[in-house]
Amino acid sequence: MDDEEKMEELIDDLKKDIKTKDNEIVRHLDKIEALEQEIMRLQNLIPGEASKIKIKREKPEDIFDPDGESAIVVKDLVKKFDDVTAVNGINLEIKKGELFGLLGPNGAGKTTTINMLVGLLNPTEGTATVGGYDVKRDINKIKEIIGVCPQEPSVFKFLKGRENVELFGNLFEMDKNVLKERADKFFKASGLEEASNRKAKGYSGGMVRQLNLIIALINDPQIVFLDEPTVGMDARVRRKTWTFIGDLKQQDKTIVLTTHYIEEAEALCDRVGIVDYGELIALGSPKELMKKHDAKNLEEVFMKITGRRIMEGV
Ligand SMILES: Nc1ncnc2c1ncn2[C@@H]1O[C@H](COP(=O)(O)OP(=O)(O)OP(=O)(O)O)[C@@H](O)[C@H]1O
Ligand SMILES: [Mg+2]
Repeated sequence: MDDEEKMEELIDDLKKDIKTKDNEIVRHLDKIEALEQEIMRLQNLIPGEASKIKIKREKPEDIFDPDGESAIVVKDLVKKFDDVTAVNGINLEIKKGELFGLLGPNGAGKTTTINMLVGLLNPTEGTATVGGYDVKRDINKIKEIIGVCPQEPSVFKFLKGRENVELFGNLFEMDKNVLKERADKFFKASGLEEASNRKAKGYSGGMVRQLNLIIALINDPQIVFLDEPTVGMDARVRRKTWTFIGDLKQQDKTIVLTTHYIEEAEALCDRVGIVDYGELIALGSPKELMKKHDAKNLEEVFMKITGRRIMEGV
């Protein structure tokens, strides 16, 4: 091997050496970055944050609602069905005792949102708490404290109205006397008293909905979800039902309802949220929204921000 060859070999070795050192430097830089991130994470824990994290681990219900004032907290909630994004990142907080109206055109995502809150659908992303319980972890606890009147009415057609109510009352293991007393009261208030001893098979659409409403309330739930509770009712029964819903508010219940009867929502709801294409596009009391959008009523607010007239659901 002549001198020139030796030189080339030496240069090759040096190049390899440099490459190895380069790789080592990169590895060290990665480690330094990881350590810096770890330091930042630890700094965030000191001192106040540490206690918060402890609470999160011990009481998941405190994640979004440390003061316990909210009945429902919805965080970045998303629901996708194959190619449809029905709910697209909704954030919302509903206070205890609030009568909250969820309004929006057909297909806006109202039912999908409610169904995620009552455990009928799993969220694709995000989360929510109902009565302090996480919808992903504690749905059974949530079911104990809520009442649900679904958009698609569900009653046992071959049972009488009263038997339907008793069946659900018994599922909640209610005291027989309390169950009877409450059922009597609700049948009377809804005007369904006479029909209560008839099989639900012969009920009209509006009557089935009234029965569903009674079933939703029979166990005296603290939080009530009513999805289109008055669809198909005639004007007289509808007014009566709205009064009935208004009375629930006097009992300190939290009520979330969807409706296409925007006038009633305007008259009754403490606050409304307007949903369109899966997003919450307006939120506030009817008065606040009318002022903000310079509208004479909520219907006009709705028209201004969605560009559509609200349609009665089917
Ligand atoms: N199970 C499902 N599979 C596929 N798409 C669905 C499903 N459920 C709902 N969607 C779609 O998600 C969107 C939102 O529907 P959703 O029922 O939540 O609307 P909504 O606001 O309750 O409407 P409406 O006022 O008519 O009751 C719609 O485009 C609907 O077609
Ligand atoms: Mg719906």
